[in-house]
Amino acid sequence: MSTLSDLTRIFTVAKTLDSRALNLAGAQPFRALIARGLYDVRPKSHDPLIAELARTGIVVCENFLLSDAFEDLTREVDEYMGANVNSTVIQDGADEIRRYSLGKVDPTRFPQLAQWRSNPVNALVSGAERRSVGRNFDGGALIEHVTIGVDEEKANPQDNTHLHIDTFFNTHKVWLYLDDVDAENGAFVFVPGSHLLDRVRLWHEYLESTGENRRSRRIGDDELKERGLQQRVVECRRNTLVVANTCGYHSRSIGKPGTSRRALHKEFRFNPFSLALGSQRKAG
Ligand SMILES: [Fe+2]
Repeated sequence: MSTLSDLTRIFTVAKTLDSRALNLAGAQPFRALIARGLYDVRPKSHDPLIAELARTGIVVCENFLLSDAFEDLTREVDEYMGANVNSTVIQDGADEIRRYSLGKVDPTRFPQLAQWRSNPVNALVSGAERRSVGRNFDGGALIEHVTIGVDEEKANPQDNTHLHIDTFFNTHKVWLYLDDVDAENGAFVFVPGSHLLDRVRLWHEYLESTGENRRSRRIGDDELKERGLQQRVVECRRNTLVVANTCGYHSRSIGKPGTSRRALHKEFRFNPFSLALGSQRKAG
């Protein structure tokens, strides 16, 4: 790709730029700084949960739904998965991730799933993203079923059991766990504070951009040590909501073969250079 066409990609959601000249000139950390600057001047929520999310990059809310509603929800999930419609499978290293889209969920038959699709976390995410996420935006709502693989040979340095960032700007993902989760069945792993930009992170963004990798940046132990950060395995009970800024370092724990866990999942990623404060479509 030419430098000229890459120039037009600077202010987009593209994870990386292909132009060696632009990358050597520092375009990638520049994009990260501009995106963060625009985020920082957006109106900020004073909600304590959102403040914690901004500070650490993650919040964990136990007993998110009332117990009756949660039990109804899990019954609906069993039925929806049993029907096995709208499902896709991703092989991520040794692990299998089966996703059941809720895009066409029937609200008469699955009222709890329809409610999850149409609402409950948009206010929280609006505060986190500092833009209004409209009621009609469902965050790509789906059921995620992770099964830990048995074939170690499928493990791959690019799979999501390795610490990585999703992209260079603030972007949020949400899980409502339907099963108890621990390190054995593919827990979410997050490094609190890693979403913040400092010299070390920007330097590694720069180094990576001058190399060959054009996928999500993988994080080495050296970067963690240099920043004095430590990873946290998010072990939790069913009916726990986790919201994370996946601009921060994160992964999935390397689990015990044969175990599995399910969650309702949504993700929110918008063009960080857009000045609009209102509802937007997912941007890539
Ligand atoms: Fe990720």
